[in-house]
Amino acid sequence: MSGIIEKYKTYLPLVNDEIIISLGEGNTPLVRLLNLEKKVGRSLRIYAKVEGANPTGSFKDRGMTLAMSNAVAKNAPAVICASTGNTSAAAAAYAAKAGLKAFVIIPEGKIAMGKLMQAYIYGAMVIQIKGNFDQGLTIVKEIASNESITLVNSLNPYRIPGQQTAAYEIVDQLQLAPDYHFLPIGNGGNTTAYWQGYETYRNAGKYHKSPQIFACQAENAAPFVEGHFVDKPETIATAIRIGKPAYWQQSNIAIEASEGRFLACSDACIIKAQQMLAAQEGIFCEPASAASIAGLLKAIENNFVQEGTTIVCTLTGNGLKDTQLVEQHLDFQLNSVSPSLDAVRKIIEQAI
Ligand code: F0G
Repeated sequence: MSGIIEKYKTYLPLVNDEIIISLGEGNTPLVRLLNLEKKVGRSLRIYAKVEGANPTGSFKDRGMTLAMSNAVAKNAPAVICASTGNTSAAAAAYAAKAGLKAFVIIPEGKIAMGKLMQAYIYGAMVIQIKGNFDQGLTIVKEIASNESITLVNSLNPYRIPGQQTAAYEIVDQLQLAPDYHFLPIGNGGNTTAYWQGYETYRNAGKYHKSPQIFACQAENAAPFVEGHFVDKPETIATAIRIGKPAYWQQSNIAIEASEGRFLACSDACIIKAQQMLAAQEGIFCEPASAASIAGLLKAIENNFVQEGTTIVCTLTGNGLKDTQLVEQHLDFQLNSVSPSLDAVRKIIEQAI
């Protein structure tokens, strides 16, 4: 299967045509959320862009294929990133494929176990700091500016063009631009990428108006909503536990130019949205991703979206990366019964 570079080559800055480090990323499902549509009871067409279906389970693969291909083309000996988990997983996997060493800096105790295991099994050197993502990013920026190691955080100039392909794909799948686009925001790279992606397609004459972008945060990690950096961000959605977003200005431009909004949702609303998506739509996304659905529900409640419109919500990462959180918040009982037909039948009969 070819990845996003093969598919959208004309839109992507590739240093050497012959060097493409790909794991078959992109081409992710765009799923209509019919049960959610019924539940909200308005005339809205709501879609989920399921980015957890990417090779390492998140949207980061789109930017990483381009960043890594160009790092190899420029003979970089190694790559480095700070991460809340998904960037480190993607960096580690693509570096493995490219035969490069990867260094990943993560905040102690604040990344999902699945993501940490990904970094290890792909062979990255994991460096844990007694601090948060923002502090990690400051360190890796400094290291990358002095050493010959390539930074593969979204500040890498190839990450955003790669991530823009998600917007191209949505338009190609829908055959139109949605009216609204909801997504979780942390560092702001993806919000910037979607806006620039939609605008690139608009400038190519595909439609007249790009969607309004709604970027969703967790209440206690909401620098964009508050309008200033936050020193100690806290949320169960660890992927977006970021207080000093690197794409501050660009994200503000995206929201303003698209006439969208920043929204903040409580952790409780995010967990509820995650569970609802799984139980009613069959999509298991990670908590940070569910912020886009929690944000949509809030926007609908506040009459921020018009009737008769098309909405896309990006589900940025796969729920399987963080099953510990599900265990903590889902009310379930698992009792063993005897291995007999009668015992099993009795339970089924009670449940029906
Ligand atoms: N959703 C998920 C699942 C993420 O992992 C991230 C960011 C975001 C949303 C926010 O995207 O930062 O471009 O605004 N994760 C980064 C990481 C920070 O290190 O994996 P953003």
